[in-house]
Amino acid sequence: MQQIIKTYQDAPSNIAIVKYWGKKGLQEPQNPSVSFTLSKALTKTNVQYELTDNKLNINFIFEGKEKDSFIPKLNFFIKNIEHLLPYLKSGNLFIETENTFPHSSGIASSASSMASLAKSLVDISEKIGNSHTNKQVLISEIARLGSGSACRSTQEGWILWGKTPVISESSDAYGISVNTSVHSNFEDLQDSILVIRKGSKAVSSTVGHSLMNNHPYKQGRINQANSNIAKLLKALGTGDFEQFAIICEEEALSLHALMMSSSPGYTLMAPETLEAINRIQEFRKNSQVPLTFTLDAGPNIHLIYQKKHIRLIQPFIKEHLAPLCEDQTVIYDEISMQTN
Ligand code: PMV
Repeated sequence: MQQIIKTYQDAPSNIAIVKYWGKKGLQEPQNPSVSFTLSKALTKTNVQYELTDNKLNINFIFEGKEKDSFIPKLNFFIKNIEHLLPYLKSGNLFIETENTFPHSSGIASSASSMASLAKSLVDISEKIGNSHTNKQVLISEIARLGSGSACRSTQEGWILWGKTPVISESSDAYGISVNTSVHSNFEDLQDSILVIRKGSKAVSSTVGHSLMNNHPYKQGRINQANSNIAKLLKALGTGDFEQFAIICEEEALSLHALMMSSSPGYTLMAPETLEAINRIQEFRKNSQVPLTFTLDAGPNIHLIYQKKHIRLIQPFIKEHLAPLCEDQTVIYDEISMQTN
């Protein structure tokens, strides 16, 4: 009888405050980035592996349905990680995965799915009898080769990915936790996602990253991100929400400015995105309640604030921001922090 090994793993999505935009080498970042993981937006993955002598065969089920269109992408990913997990050269791999959040809602599913898959593949490797001395690093590195930002979803909380002189252990190859140097002001952040537009992205992040290769502002962006990483880590350490908000918005708007000034250039903000940003900044000015926002490569807004301000902010969201969202959709999530 053939040996079948099973595992179940999940992983959270993440939202970047300093953005990764542009790649070098094999999915390494042009600049360092920092994100936090979410607590409700997860990918849940079941993997079964059957040891055989045959060339690896993959079956993939997404949300209950076979998704063959994903197999070439998975084969490419596995080829890239075979040197790290040689058992994947042969056998039958059965992957079943589902998300706890809706598609195309402004929550990055590639990060959570590749992180949960990376955890699963390393767990199977251990169950087969392989030992991995630095398991956390290996998982993050494998996730990175699947989707760059996924390497920030293999552990919970605040994760730094990319070499920066500010933290000597930082690496372009994997993410590291910076939770221990984060002030309690940033341990309970809320992320309310304003779903301005449902539907898939007009431009894939792969294309977006590649447009940075010959971007006229490439070096300027690398300098800006490095400087923002240093400022962000300082603000996270001191608990300075005001400084955090400045960096957060500068990064979000710079990401979109970079997309607009690419060749070809493109705009991913919708009219309601701009209107919501104006309302958020006006509300902050008039009420003095600290809140900020970030954007990924799409029109949806991540509104970020501390738990203690929920009572003041959520009525504002419902009255003034939800009407700008498609079907009034707002997803209320929050940071997940490692408790151990
Ligand atoms: O990991 P990718 O290739 O999907 O790129 C993610 C890029 C951004 O979400 C825009 C920024 C980031 O750092 O997550």
